[in-house]
Amino acid sequence: MARRDLDTLLSRLAGVVGSQHVIVDPEVTRGYVVDWTGRFHGETPAVIRPGSVEELAEVVQICADAKVAIVPQGGNTGLVGGSVPLAGELVVSTRRLTALGEVDELAGQVTAGAGVVLAALQEHARAAGLQYAVDLAARDSATVGGTIATNAGGLHLIRWGGTREQLAGIEAVLADGSVVRHLAGLAKDNTGYDLARLLCGSEGTLGIVASARLRLVPRPPERVVALVGFDGLRAAVGAVAAVRRDVPCLDAAEVFFEDGLALVCEVEGLRPPFARSWPVYVLFEASDHDDPTAPLSSALASAGGVGDVAVGTDARTCAELWSYRELHTSAINSVGPPHKLDVSLPLSLLPDFVAQLPDVISRHAPAAHVWLFGHIGDGNLHVNVTGVAADDDTVDGIVFRTVVSLGGSISAEHGIGTAKKRWLHLNRSDAEIRAFRRIKHALDPLGILNPNVLLPPT
Ligand code: FAD
Ligand code: MLT
Ligand code: ZN
Repeated sequence: MARRDLDTLLSRLAGVVGSQHVIVDPEVTRGYVVDWTGRFHGETPAVIRPGSVEELAEVVQICADAKVAIVPQGGNTGLVGGSVPLAGELVVSTRRLTALGEVDELAGQVTAGAGVVLAALQEHARAAGLQYAVDLAARDSATVGGTIATNAGGLHLIRWGGTREQLAGIEAVLADGSVVRHLAGLAKDNTGYDLARLLCGSEGTLGIVASARLRLVPRPPERVVALVGFDGLRAAVGAVAAVRRDVPCLDAAEVFFEDGLALVCEVEGLRPPFARSWPVYVLFEASDHDDPTAPLSSALASAGGVGDVAVGTDARTCAELWSYRELHTSAINSVGPPHKLDVSLPLSLLPDFVAQLPDVISRHAPAAHVWLFGHIGDGNLHVNVTGVAADDDTVDGIVFRTVVSLGGSISAEHGIGTAKKRWLHLNRSDAEIRAFRRIKHALDPLGILNPNVLLPPT
């Protein structure tokens, strides 16, 4: 875009949001053009920060008039490069959309602005004796809008479902600047297409979420966290099945491995949980009206391959046990920008997949290290590969093909973004991708909303 046209555009945008919310200083925009891992870099002429849905709608309309592409951005914690302006797009940041409505205790719902971070939403829900079911280690930065756009899964999906299951309504700005608003949150409402659920997981390609009506769930008072060492992954998978069967109040079943735990302890200066190390660890969390420790212990007692067990029952000890799992992402990042391959597989095949992975990868990238952890209860493993150049995605393709050959998915919860779009065909047929393109074209005929993610180039 010519300098003069850009100046005109930015001054029109400043007229809407205020010049202090049109950020052009490269020192400040720097934080908006690189993804959380440091693997994906872009550039932008400006970051626009609307303060209301009306301002957001005007911003989009002005960009549509000028045929200028936009990358919506929330907390910039996405892990597939979807929030980065890879081709010099404008960044529209939602971080000022932080309105948080009163909790409707009768309906068990709340309306939250797209820029509200998960931690604030959870605190708000807790004050009303409820909880927001989606929780992530990135809770202090990840936003309501970003988690909807990615259909984030998180740590409690096994019990409450993912983000899509919490959505009771949405307010969003479409690519022409029009606003769709459906926030009544009625439990029964069969009045046509479900735009909220369509936008959920659309990664900023169909509309920009301005706010959402979200379900809140009960917050049982008694909670237990148990970290269990196992002698192998097959035993761990068997124990997770036993615990799921016998402990219906199971909130989480999370896995990590010996090398990942050692890295976390080294990087974070933590003491290991046990005197000896185990090949595999699973962290279980359960909560109920009555203390769930006894049913959890008896389910574990009936499982094979169980080694050491550490139990947390108060907030401090539970948090300590969770930190071994939650700190994996930052500890791995300290090794170097990882290739983050978030995959899911049938549980029965998880051990075979993990057994073949080192060989499969080292054949093509002998210097690579593979770090594994994830949401074992959902069959969701985070395969993190370090020691491979950021732009060399040979290993990504090899892992994805292996996953698909075993009946799995190349994206369990992070989305496709830019990182996986060239592999989308591994999980989606030509007919499905054609349907995706038709939906995209119908809602965004100019192709201005996040044009470099999700759909492979034609
Ligand atoms: P961003 O990173 O800003 O954006 C993500 C995508 O959504 C981009 O495509 C962007 O264009 C789009 N977008 C953002 N806001 C909007 C909006 N208002 N309207 C339309 N599109 C929008 N993910 C999980 O699923 N489960 C986890 O357990 C999990 N744990 C994490 C832990 C850590 C430490 C980190 C760093 C990340 C983790 N993530 C996890 C990934 C990430 O937090 C999620 O993808 C989250 O949903 C991104 O939210 P965000 O606000 O940061 O979005
Ligand atoms: C997690 O489960 O901690 C996240 O999805 C983040 C990651 O994959 O690193
Ligand atoms: Zn995850």
